[in-house]
This record gives sequence, structure tokens and C-alpha cells, in this order.
Amino acid sequence: MSGKSTALLRAENLVKHFPVHQHMFGRQTAVVHAVDGVSFELRTGDTMALVGESGCGKSTVGRLVLRLLDATSGKVWFGGEDLMSLSPGQLRARRRELQMIFQDPYSSLNPRMTVEQTLTEPLALHGLARGRHRERAAELMDLVGLAPQYLQRYPHEFSGGQRQRIGIARALAVEPRLIVCDEPVSALDVSIQAQIVNLLQDLQRRFGLAYVFIAHDLAVVKHIASHVAVMYLGHIVEYADKRSLFASPRHPYTQALLSAIPIPEPGLRHERILLQGDVPNPITPPSGCRFRTRCPYARERCGEEVPALRATAGHSVACHFWEEIAPPAGVAASGGAVNERLVRLQGAFRTGSSRGGTPAGKEFEIDLINV
Ligand SMILES: Nc1ncnc2c1ncn2[C@@H]1O[C@H](COP(=O)(O)OP(=O)(O)OP(=O)(O)O)[C@@H](O)[C@H]1O
Ligand code: SF4
Ligand SMILES: [Mg+2]
Repeated sequence: MSGKSTALLRAENLVKHFPVHQHMFGRQTAVVHAVDGVSFELRTGDTMALVGESGCGKSTVGRLVLRLLDATSGKVWFGGEDLMSLSPGQLRARRRELQMIFQDPYSSLNPRMTVEQTLTEPLALHGLARGRHRERAAELMDLVGLAPQYLQRYPHEFSGGQRQRIGIARALAVEPRLIVCDEPVSALDVSIQAQIVNLLQDLQRRFGLAYVFIAHDLAVVKHIASHVAVMYLGHIVEYADKRSLFASPRHPYTQALLSAIPIPEPGLRHERILLQGDVPNPITPPSGCRFRTRCPYARERCGEEVPALRATAGHSVACHFWEEIAPPAGVAASGGAVNERLVRLQGAFRTGSSRGGTPAGKEFEIDLINV
């Protein structure tokens, strides 16, 4: 694999093991296998969603590709350049193009800085918009759908959704090419979630941004992602374009995750696959396939051999036996419960407007079952 790929971002066999110490200055006793051999590519204008249970390594992957964390091994290519080989000075210059948006914008915004200071600080740091910082800050506010007269306010004077818009404006200030969005809407009410997701999509179209979008909510993922990577205990177990993944999930873990999405229509129900047991400890992950302790299809080979991520027709899966595993039961007529939250989320996407350019009232397709 070389840096000549057409992809904007290419992660190659990324590994991150966190050392565990007896106490703060004690000897190392173990390692947390947070990320173990993750590879993927992302093109300009695309959004790759990273999904999986808490602790599976999503945020660690996000930090590794931005080089906010140093990898134990592996490579990250950005625009054909090996990020791991950059000197601190070169990395600082590149950093401009690699930004991150966090779940809780309040904790990432300095409470003692006005919005104007928050937005102009990165401009000064990177020598951008010289002599027109105030103007640029006003432009950024407009881009994210906030009135420029709010520039002199402090973060606590805004709602959660407005603060997330400020976080996005700050990331945009330096004209990035890639943004890692780490659960950017998880803490927001569903109607606000739709506005922020729509805003991110508008900005992506306008500026040709690439997103790594980390999320728990598969309804949101289905709306924003072009590709989806499903993670389990530090591994990508399935990777495909969104349509293929939602229509025909191949890995038993993905099938279980998707079966947990409630169907918002009365009278329709699909079979829910309940996983047995807890997620294993990442300090001592199971041998072979890491999912085998919870997999209903596990057999001897699964404990002996790590399944490789194999692609067929652009859809990759890491399971020895996926061809033999029947797809999950389809939708069956019966009296299933309606999920209130999901109905609201769907409604919000249908009517959501970003104030940052999307025409109000534009219809968004978010059909959770029939892709
Ligand atoms: N600095 C660290 N030191 C030690 N272990 C860490 C560190 N950061 C993360 N981990 C561990 O690495 C694993 C992956 O963590 P990570 O935060 O990437 O998961 P995640 O998928 O983002 O989870 P969540 O959905 O809860 O945010 C977890 O077991 C976590 O406890
Ligand atoms: S490799 Fe074995 S344990 Fe792993 S998902 Fe496939 S069948 Fe299950
Ligand atoms: Mg996380």
C-alpha cells in the first residue's frame, strides 16, 4: 500500500494499545487493546460512519487519524502524505486541514472567551484572514446559521444546539478538508440533532469536506453516512456503503445492531437478535474472532483463527462463515411497539432546516427499513 491512493484519508493497519500500570508510577502490567489493525479509506466529499458499542475503539480511531494520539503501529495517509512521518512543525501546518467536533461543545469551548475570540484564535494561530478577523468571524457565524451580533457573547449564553454550531464554526475557521465528528449530536434533542446533521451535510456539499462520523444512533448514521464501518473490540468487522450495509448486513454483530433499531410503524416488527453476555475485557480479548463469546454461530475455528476482513462486491466482512449465515428475519406483520423517540427523529429529519443554507421544509429520506 502506498501513499499514491486517490483517497483523501487512508488508515493502514492502525493499532493502539494503551499501557495499564499498577499505579501512576508503577510498572506496566497489561495493555488495553483499544484498536487492533484498523484499515479504511475515505474520499473527499464522503462520510464514513464508525459505529459499535461503547468502548469498541471509535474515538481512539478518530484521534489516531488526526494524530492527536500516536499509534502503537500502522500508518495514516492524508492527501497522499504519511502523517506519521511528519515533524512537529510539519504536523502543526497540516493540523489546519484536520479538525474535530466533539459531543459536548461546552467542554471544548473556553468559557472565558467570547465567540469572536473563539473563532479568531485559530485564524491568528494559522496566519489566516489577516487584517479581517472580525469579518471572517461574522462570515463563519452566518455559515452555521447564527446571527453575527452574538459574537460578543460567551458560550454559557447559548443553547446546546447553538454551542454545537459554534464548535462547527471554529472547526471551519481554518478551512479543513477532513473533520472527525465524535458523537456530535448525541447530547442534543432530536429536533436539534436533525438541524445539526443537515447543517453538516450542507457544509460538506459547499466545501467538499470529508467526515469520519462517530455515532451510536443508527437512524442518524443512515441519514448522513455514505459508508459505514462497524467496530467490535478494536476491529472493523464489517465495512460497506450505507445502502448495502443496511439492506444486507453480513456479520452477526451488525445483524444484531440493526435488529435493535425499532421500526416506527405500528403493525410492523422485525425479529430482534439479543446478544448474550457482556463485551469482553479489551485487556484480554478472546482469541480468534473477538465476537465469538457472544456469537450464536461460533464454532471451533472461530477460536483458533482471526477472521480477515474480506471484500465481495465492495462489501467487506470479517467472519469465517458469513456466507452460511442467513440474513436476519425480514419485517413481519404483527403488533410491534412504536418507538416515540424514533418517530420524533424521523419527523425532525423530514422538516429539519439547517439555517445554514438548506431550504426550510426540504424533505429528507430516512426510511429505516427499506433502503
Ligand atoms: N487514554 C487511555 N488509557 C487507557 N485506556 C484507554 C484510553 N483511552 C481509551 N481507552 C480504552 O480504549 C478502549 C476504546 O476506547 P474508546 O474511547 O476509543 O471507545 P469508544 O468506542 O469511543 O467508546 P464510547 O462509545 O463510550 O465513546 C476502551 O476500553 C477504553 O477504556
Ligand atoms: S467468525 Fe465465528 S464467531 Fe466470529 S462472527 Fe463469524 S461465526 Fe461468529
Ligand atoms: Mg467515544
